[in-house]
Amino acid sequence: MTQLTGRERAAYVQNMFTRIARRYDLMNRLMTGGQDIRWRKRVIELARLHPNASLLDLGTGTGDLAREALSAFPNARVVGADFTLEMMRVGRRNSPLDFSAADALQLPFPDFSFDAVVSGFLMRNVVDLQKALEEQYRVLKPGGRIVILDTTRPKKNILSPFIWVHMHVVIPTLGGLITGSGDAYRYLPETTEGFVTAEDMAARMEKAGFQKIGFQRFMFGTIAIHWGEKPLESGGAK
Ligand SMILES: C[S@@+](CC[C@H](N)C(=O)[O-])C[C@H]1O[C@@H](n2cnc3c(N)ncnc32)[C@H](O)[C@@H]1O
Repeated sequence: MTQLTGRERAAYVQNMFTRIARRYDLMNRLMTGGQDIRWRKRVIELARLHPNASLLDLGTGTGDLAREALSAFPNARVVGADFTLEMMRVGRRNSPLDFSAADALQLPFPDFSFDAVVSGFLMRNVVDLQKALEEQYRVLKPGGRIVILDTTRPKKNILSPFIWVHMHVVIPTLGGLITGSGDAYRYLPETTEGFVTAEDMAARMEKAGFQKIGFQRFMFGTIAIHWGEKPLESGGAK
């Protein structure tokens, strides 16, 4: 799959998430031992919303991050956007949310629309990472915050063999059993290993115009949360 590029890769990603949508949330809980719930809370904390803030949850999937934001800030204006309709359809069954069909590379929102943009496990999937960062920058208000949760390439350490087995054996086997689509869960280690390092992601965020960038690693260095801010004195897209 990693050899696919451009539209073919985007179509593969959409098709894959359509197939696994129904079991996606369950697999997340099992794969991470429920830790993803804690990371999502951290993402919303780092977005530093005010009670009436506007928030875009990009690559929202079934809407877990959007829901987390609304439970902490019931008066916030929260939009969940994704290009796989089936994921949002499954999410809508859990609870109603303001969902929007959108491609992260061409967001259907005007400049300066949101106080914060968050994403969970989106950025590894987009075919043009820099463009996705620039689009998020464009739709943020000056002073607005970006927070990105995703897998990241772990550094070699004493746990590396165990991490390898978890990613290449445990997750695809479990994914095959639970969703019937083992290929989708072979895609996860492939894209994680082919993805930028946490340091590279921070550099790309800076290139897109963000400031006050930081990141924190979790789960033996396989997960990272990055954050940054659009400068107060900024204009539109950089
Ligand atoms: C791994 S799921 C993450 C779902 C959810 N954010 C979460 O934290 O569980 C990745 C989501 O990103 C979406 N996605 C991937 N590329 C996208 C793009 N270019 N534009 C919009 N959504 C995209 C997929 O459709 C999928 O729903």
